Amino acid sequence: MKNDDISVAVLTVSDRSFVGAREDKSGPVIIELLKENNFCLEDYKIVPDEKKQIIKQLNDWINQKLNLIFTTGGTGFASRDITPEATSAVIERETPGIAEYLRYKSFQITPHATLSRGIAGICNQSLIINLPGSPKAAKECIEFLLPVLPHAIELLLDSPESEKNH
Ligand code: MTE
Repeated sequence: MKNDDISVAVLTVSDRSFVGAREDKSGPVIIELLKENNFCLEDYKIVPDEKKQIIKQLNDWINQKLNLIFTTGGTGFASRDITPEATSAVIERETPGIAEYLRYKSFQITPHATLSRGIAGICNQSLIINLPGSPKAAKECIEFLLPVLPHAIELLLDSPESEKNH
């Protein structure tokens, strides 16, 4: 499967960016990287750190059968950080390898990687991946994931190409 066959949406989760008090830098960084790598970007939204609003947006995209959904932000320890719990409420099957890999690679850059509670998982034909909130962290994590994403989506869609690419 080629990147341009993979439909993607990006969700920034941030109270301050939602009300316009802080410019969202992470969403645009992710989008730029995805575009550079020819992914088919379908949507980008900002929601506050509110479980119900995160769940609603994820479900909208799942119903649209988008292949890949990245969230950025709300994975830390602050009292409002709720993105992993919202993601957990939506997914049917967790994909712990993705979260393990992101943390493993991120540990090599900063011990603060221990502070991200991000998860990943599948609902219907969508793979949802939580990324940390800083633009630096989001960029690093997307770069780690780029080599894995096409085969992940092939497998998710039971594509015949998944037979020959493993
Ligand atoms: N992962 C990578 N690759 N690079 C980083 O700089 N920062 C960490 C961590 N993961 C970081 C990273 C920090 S400082 C925090 S607090 C957590 O992600 C959670 O971030 P969030 O609450 O903005 O989602």
